[in-house]
Amino acid sequence: MSRRIVALPGDGIGTEIMDSALNILAEIMVQDNLDFDIERFAFGGAGIDEKGDPLPQETLEACEQADAILLGAIGGPKWDNAPKRPEQGLLGLRKALGLFANIRPISVPDAVVHLSPLKEENVRGVDFVVVRELTGGIYFGEKQLGETQASDLCTYSKAEIQRIIRKAFEIAQTRNKKVTSVDKANVLATSKLWRQTAEEVAKEFPDCTLENQLVDSAAMVMIQKPKQFDVIVTENLFGDILSDEASVIPGSLGMMPSASHSETGPSLYEPIHGSAPDIANQNIANPMSMILSVAMMLRQSFGLEESAKKIEAACDCVMNQGILTTDLGGKATTTEFTEAVIKELH
Ligand code: NAD
Ligand code: IPM
Ligand code: MN
Repeated sequence: MSRRIVALPGDGIGTEIMDSALNILAEIMVQDNLDFDIERFAFGGAGIDEKGDPLPQETLEACEQADAILLGAIGGPKWDNAPKRPEQGLLGLRKALGLFANIRPISVPDAVVHLSPLKEENVRGVDFVVVRELTGGIYFGEKQLGETQASDLCTYSKAEIQRIIRKAFEIAQTRNKKVTSVDKANVLATSKLWRQTAEEVAKEFPDCTLENQLVDSAAMVMIQKPKQFDVIVTENLFGDILSDEASVIPGSLGMMPSASHSETGPSLYEPIHGSAPDIANQNIANPMSMILSVAMMLRQSFGLEESAKKIEAACDCVMNQGILTTDLGGKATTTEFTEAVIKELH
């Protein structure tokens, strides 16, 4: 039976990198004899323009019925003052699908080690995962915006913390068995509960170690000694910020994919970056973040390890030939990079 993939290109470079990734997926489908039914739906700013809602009802229903979801990126200045912004559509989708576990891997392909702004010896061999809690915390607490005062409430239940910490340990068991839980337990009540819960959950995983670290110093260590991390687990806002910071290690946000999982429903795969309005419509965005998100989908939703590896290897091979987009100092356009990857797959 054919498996259903919902594609949400979104806005800005989202549509450009989605085209690229779907072209590569089409090639892999032919080569590996895979049967996917792929359909695009309006979402984000495009949802507002086409249907008057960043998360149109038919888009949500299609996502609920999908086997996996691919998302480009949403947002842009055009909708910054819309009554409901594109970002609300994204948060609404994550919440509606219960996508509590956002997995953001960070590694540095050999081909770009010398391009990192950080010292080569600190960057070569970096391989860690940020496990970001995605449906709780300050993003979803009560908000009030007054003329002279505003507030955002940060809340976490113990159950929400337990499930994300467990997820981090399960991932650590498949890797180097070290979890670094990042919090601000010296100040925040939610972080105190977070740390206490992390210590309790750690006892369920005696083969792994737990280290607790405050978020401010973790941000510094991530740049100074990134090789010391294996699995970082943290709350929603800290994970958002730390993962963009982590993109400095390989040298561009344009190389960073992610996967978001719920307890039972379909998973969603998306780059960690946004719609990059500053480079949209120029055919210069780095499509790797989206292409690698497709590889994560093939592996994590469909168990197609070999197909995923082929895509990753083709990207590495293309970069090794010096074919790089402008974010990495190269000259290749989005379509040239994509064509080079497809050629490499042959
Ligand atoms: P951004 O991630 O869009 O861009 C930050 C910088 O990184 C820009 O200079 C951009 O050109 C560069 N960049 C990002 N992706 C790139 C790629 N693939 N190739 C080359 N360069 C790339 O962040 P921003 O500018 O702060 O936000 C723009 C919009 O995107 C906002 O509306 C924001 O809310 C939205 N956003 C959406 C998502 C999402 O859809 N998941 C994520 C983050 C931000
Ligand atoms: C991300 C983005 C989103 C977030 C925004 C667009 C709501 O920055 O996916 O990292 O903060 O989660
Ligand atoms: Mn972000």
